[in-house]
Amino acid sequence: MGKREDVSKKPPSTLRRWLYRSRLINFLPIDRKKQFYLLTVFLVGVILFGLLNWRKSDASSESVTAGKSDRDRATKLPALRTGNTRLFYNRVPKCGSSTLVALLKKLAERNGFQHHSSPKLDDWGMFIKEQREDFVKEFNDEPPRTSFDRHLFFLDFAEFREKNPIYINLIRDPTERFISEFYFRRRLQNEGVKKGERKWYDEDLENCVRTGKDYDCRLIDGTFIKNMIAFFCGHDIECSKHNSPNALSRAKQNVEKHFAVVGILEDLDMSLQVLEQTLPAYFAGAVDLYASNPDHVVNKGKNRVDRVSEEVKQIIRANLTAEYDFYDFVRKRLIAQSQGKL
Ligand SMILES: *[C@@H]1O[C@H](CO)[C@@H](O)[C@H](O)[C@H]1NC(C)=O
Repeated sequence: MGKREDVSKKPPSTLRRWLYRSRLINFLPIDRKKQFYLLTVFLVGVILFGLLNWRKSDASSESVTAGKSDRDRATKLPALRTGNTRLFYNRVPKCGSSTLVALLKKLAERNGFQHHSSPKLDDWGMFIKEQREDFVKEFNDEPPRTSFDRHLFFLDFAEFREKNPIYINLIRDPTERFISEFYFRRRLQNEGVKKGERKWYDEDLENCVRTGKDYDCRLIDGTFIKNMIAFFCGHDIECSKHNSPNALSRAKQNVEKHFAVVGILEDLDMSLQVLEQTLPAYFAGAVDLYASNPDHVVNKGKNRVDRVSEEVKQIIRANLTAEYDFYDFVRKRLIAQSQGKL
């Protein structure tokens, strides 16, 4: 066997010598050179396979930003990297959510996704564990390209080892929201109330705040309140306590970690611009669609709101401390996003 002798004349490389000596290369009943090549081919195959799969999973986790620009690729937002492409708008009430949902429905046609509105309007949260788990399962049964809206406190899917959806939301000046909420409850929800109850429903906010006799006009630290913060903090009762520092910090952390965009109603144009650039798969064309549609503002004026004096607004504003802290935090983040800094 002349060939074999030729090879043995050349001194094998250090790597080859080490492999020959090790058990790795001496387990097959064929010659050591063939074993060496087999091993090399096998290792190269493993590395290529690994590389290909890594590229693939990288692409699928970003597929929600389909048609992505370099800017999207460079995004540091953890909310876009969960691997769950479904969008969850856990809409805060009285913050223009009907307008945003109407827009999402039009965008669904334009951008080829499905929009699903929950029929449940009142059941906002403080869910016990079983309820949270049921919701997570139901939510992830939706097709992957779905946007879903419901008034619901923030819910961390990771609690049930599921991937979080892409959360978005829209908030509003806390005093304006408080006023809107008051009149919504007292004026729009008063159909068919008994005569004896009429007085409560007809009360105006001005009086209610000044006399402080009703629970829904009182803003006392630690009492339960229908706040915006719970929609970002969660179902724990602590999240619904007025001015809870704990709830505030949890809400901020969740925004940073789980919310792709939280818009501001007072800056709706900027909010839509940021939504469009951050989530083009859902919001491409949102700015134009909104600007070109004259009847885009849904529900405006439907909710009769009595004039509220600046003095009473000031009383409300002074006590909504945590809500304003949160509002300012969200506004700063939105501005940073609009400037491409986030
Ligand atoms: C605002 O907070 C203060 C201090 O907790 C309280 O005394 C006052 O009644 C609150 N105002 C309203 C309108 O609830």
